[in-house]
Amino acid sequence: MANVILVGAQWGDEGKGKIIDVLTEQADIVVRTQGGNNAGHTVFVGPSKYVLHLIPSGILRSGKVCVIGNGVVLDPVGLVNEIDGLAKLGVHVTPQNLVISETAHVVFPWHRELDGQREVRKGNRKIGTTKRGIGPTYGDKAARVGLRVIDLVNAARFPARFRERLEENNEILRALGAQPIDHDSVLADYTRCADRLRPFVANTVVMLHEATRRGANILFEGAQGTFLDIDHGTYPYVTSSNTTSGGASTGSGVPPNRMDRVMGVMKAYTTRVGEGPLPSENAEISDLLHGMGREFGATTGRMRRCGWFDAVATRHAAMVNGIDELAVTNVDGLDSLKTILVCTAYRVDGQVLRHIPSDAEVLARCEPVFEEFPGWDTPTDGIRRWEDLPVPCRHYLLSIAQMTGARLSIVSVGPAREQTMFL
Ligand code: GDP
Ligand code: IMO
Ligand code: MG
Repeated sequence: MANVILVGAQWGDEGKGKIIDVLTEQADIVVRTQGGNNAGHTVFVGPSKYVLHLIPSGILRSGKVCVIGNGVVLDPVGLVNEIDGLAKLGVHVTPQNLVISETAHVVFPWHRELDGQREVRKGNRKIGTTKRGIGPTYGDKAARVGLRVIDLVNAARFPARFRERLEENNEILRALGAQPIDHDSVLADYTRCADRLRPFVANTVVMLHEATRRGANILFEGAQGTFLDIDHGTYPYVTSSNTTSGGASTGSGVPPNRMDRVMGVMKAYTTRVGEGPLPSENAEISDLLHGMGREFGATTGRMRRCGWFDAVATRHAAMVNGIDELAVTNVDGLDSLKTILVCTAYRVDGQVLRHIPSDAEVLARCEPVFEEFPGWDTPTDGIRRWEDLPVPCRHYLLSIAQMTGARLSIVSVGPAREQTMFL
């Protein structure tokens, strides 16, 4: 399989978790390289449903090693809860199947509190964050005042560093009129989590380098999606990490020339959770999908906004990620439609745009230009072979792949492993 970077080609929740789980069969190591527990990756194994937030989705297959890379921001309490939650479901996370980078940055309660406070202050220009403290933690990393896993698990060093950071942030919280964070109870929680996590912590950069020298197959599990990227997304309505393929190198220490392929995952339509522009947003398809009980956020339970497939956006995603291959998921979501629309350009200020504009305010004013496709109006969730998909369905999928500019290689017609076709 070689080394494959998997990224979301839209606004997150493309079905990356499901595709990662399927591809993990051929991988030796699965690595998360950015984001934190803002992610929610859903995987079904038989009747069991798992929602992974920080732990790579590869954890569900035995004999594989999962890595939380240096580019991730790690909430130790969230991670310990996730490990315990998986144990209850019969999945045992041990230092043999999970390795945590010593240089990943640590999320603290003040980061979450500041995340919430900033949102309140933004009023109707809020981002709609997951309130997991992601932005403030990456902010501290960039400002060079963050604490890393290496600090957390150093029992001699941690209490003093913790107190210093807590006091500084409590001053900020008090100035904002917010509740300060309690020293003793949080230190106790973090010390308990540090004790639990210490055996998992290693120099993952060296470990991954040695694995590539041995010829191991590494799968890089992207979180969020291209248009939530801090550089390439619809700024400021983005997350705080590089969700695009370059983030896989910086977030793991595996250099670009050791990467073999980039796979983009996209839905057969478009969704977004949180605020910010979504040019192809459409009430009809939103009602249809929500009516089917679909498109509710895996992390926050919020209703996802839905729209038609946006080929302008995915073409841009193919460009900035270098997408070679596409996995299209949730094809079955369109099964009941007689006609399907695809956004092929944007119209704004009397102009037709074929590229996504950089200014989110301009993007918010863009009107979609649609091309119509015949629907297939028949269930696809029971189909297991590409040749058996209805002709209009195959035509639609090949067309959106061609518009995106990459080769269609996986089609998914349901959340289960077996509802996956390889071309
Ligand atoms: P991720 O964040 O990219 O991993 O995606 P999420 O797990 O947040 O959201 C994708 C949702 O779609 C999950 O509920 C998956 O179980 C589900 N899913 C993935 N592929 C398919 C598919 O082909 N059909 C259907 N019906 N559901 C799918
Ligand atoms: P997965 O990996 C969808 C969105 C939030 C908000 C913005 C910033 O499951 O695809 P943050 O908490 O990161 O500061 O929020 O990004 N967001 C996601 N949307 N899927 C995700 O992850 C997301 N992670 C963050 O809704 O709009
Ligand atoms: Mg998700």
